[in-house]
Amino acid sequence: MRELRLFADGLRLDEAERPVAGEGEVLVRVHAAAITRGELEWPTGRLPAVPSYELSGVLAETGEEVFGLTPFDRDGVAADYAAVPAAVLAPKPARLTHVEAAALPMGGLSAWQGLFVHGRLRAGERVLITGAFGGVGHLAVQLARQAGAEVVEEGAADLLFDTVGGELPAAGRVVTIAADVVGATYFIVEPDREQLLELARLADAGELAPAIDSTYPLDRAQEAFGRVAARGKRGKVVLDVAGG
Ligand SMILES: NC(=O)c1ccc[n+]([C@@H]2O[C@H](COP(=O)([O-])OP(=O)(O)OC[C@H]3O[C@@H](n4cnc5c(N)ncnc54)[C@H](OP(=O)(O)O)[C@@H]3O)[C@@H](O)[C@H]2O)c1
Repeated sequence: MRELRLFADGLRLDEAERPVAGEGEVLVRVHAAAITRGELEWPTGRLPAVPSYELSGVLAETGEEVFGLTPFDRDGVAADYAAVPAAVLAPKPARLTHVEAAALPMGGLSAWQGLFVHGRLRAGERVLITGAFGGVGHLAVQLARQAGAEVVEEGAADLLFDTVGGELPAAGRVVTIAADVVGATYFIVEPDREQLLELARLADAGELAPAIDSTYPLDRAQEAFGRVAARGKRGKVVLDVAGG
């Protein structure tokens, strides 16, 4: 099988043995794997590493369609097959394609945890979201509106949810995923099956729709990482591993 690997001098698509699921893991035939700006900087001290931490695919053993966000402290899922902790997976939303489902976990869970867990956003509150067209931001806008909050582009806000970094406007509460800034709550998104199930429910109800900026086959991953680093994206960049 093919496996994308990050080395100190860059990315390479290698042939590899199909992984064997260990204790608590399942083997997934990866159909699509989405990528995130900056993620190639994350696996320090464990190169070579497999990138991409969100996927949609099919359980090799049962054929069940699943999706999820995988832990950051181990190899990712940019490969034909990946052994994934069963606890981070949920049934794929039936309404979404594999490419769309792969685009949901990282952005959806980051937005959910930023808005509702760390940001304690309530219906009727005003929320300002920076990077509102990005992989996290576009889902945060939809989730905030869905929860009855008012999404504002400027002015006083009860909550600022920042996905860009840099200088932040003032707000009642400030939560960021982009930079550890004084006065802001910075957090790192965590896999969460219950939240993933809720995101899937919203997606199947047509109330949450991940946007696909672009898709690339696995053998053009270098270009995909070029695109994810660029400005002017609209939604997520996805590796279409199985080709459709
Ligand atoms: N802490 C965590 O758990 C966590 C989780 C997910 C992501 N992240 C990080 O959070 C950030 C946002 O993730 P994402 O997937 O939403 O990224 P993204 O898709 O690149 O979206 C970021 C958005 O910010 C806007 N932007 C404004 N100023 C920018 C600048 N100077 N550089 C880059 N973008 C700028 C871009 O829009 P325009 O180009 O149209 O202006 C873009 O749409 C990334 O750094 C990512 O690594 C952290």
